[in-house]
Amino acid sequence: MASFECLRGKTVLVTGSGRGVGRQIAQSFAVQGAQVAICDLVQDRAAETRALIEQAGGTAMAQAADVGDEPSVQRLVGAIVERWGHIDVLVNAAGSYGAAFRRTHETPVEEWDGVFASNVRGSFLCAKAVLPGMMARKAGRIINVSSNAGRSVSPLLGCSYTAAKTAIIGLTRHLAHEYARDGILVNTIAPGPVRSERVTDLIGEDDKATQLAAQIPLGRLAEPADIADVVLFMASDASRFMTGAILDVSGGYVLA
Ligand SMILES: NC(=O)c1ccc[n+]([C@@H]2O[C@H](COP(=O)([O-])OP(=O)(O)OC[C@H]3O[C@@H](n4cnc5c(N)ncnc54)[C@H](O)[C@@H]3O)[C@@H](O)[C@H]2O)c1
Repeated sequence: MASFECLRGKTVLVTGSGRGVGRQIAQSFAVQGAQVAICDLVQDRAAETRALIEQAGGTAMAQAADVGDEPSVQRLVGAIVERWGHIDVLVNAAGSYGAAFRRTHETPVEEWDGVFASNVRGSFLCAKAVLPGMMARKAGRIINVSSNAGRSVSPLLGCSYTAAKTAIIGLTRHLAHEYARDGILVNTIAPGPVRSERVTDLIGEDDKATQLAAQIPLGRLAEPADIADVVLFMASDASRFMTGAILDVSGGYVLA
């Protein structure tokens, strides 16, 4: 794991950190000495991440929240500010997805709405809730999580996912431009396929995963820690002159 001493004592909110990539991001911040707020739609997952961090000697709080619901997001941010005073870093990792390999003309509108609510509305609402505090402090980092799908087209998921992850790039670009003068840096990470519960749920671990890995120039799917390390960099002093950027962390899967 990369090491960023400058993250010690920072307050970090990682949405969707009840499992997978979000959980690893939360754990990696905690290892650096940050205090981490865990949020997930599924309370038990959030509680489990908190327990893992605390067992490893880190500091965390956990709250169930739906990032697509404004009152829920306001309660979440209010609880963090009450406990730790402010938020230095927001990582918008929460996001749902639809069925694998479903054609657009067969996609229920509910799938489209759900994927947009968690990914796009959620990233907007969480940013909206933390921005006033960051503006008052003239400092803050917002790291949005797009995907290779947003940089090209999803090899597994449908149009709702590709469109939502592309919208996150637009949101990043707009916020970066709008809030630079307030000292707030906004960037996007675009992971390629990750070896995670999500991908296993979608395609299993065997043939399809091997075929996918064969299409990645570095020859394997990402590990969650490959993504988390770059998120640490994006929250650190090392990226102090970077805003509005999209970082592809895809083992060369996206070359643009
Ligand atoms: N796994 C991959 O291959 C991959 C690749 C590129 C990008 N990503 C992105 O990285 C992020 C994490 O991916 P993952 O594979 O760990 O996903 P995951 O589905 O395993 O975990 C996402 C977590 O977010 C939570 N969540 C979903 N909707 C929510 C909501 N409305 N409010 C709060 N929490 C909510 C889920 O309960 C879940 O615990 C996602 O944004 C995903 O789109 C993943």
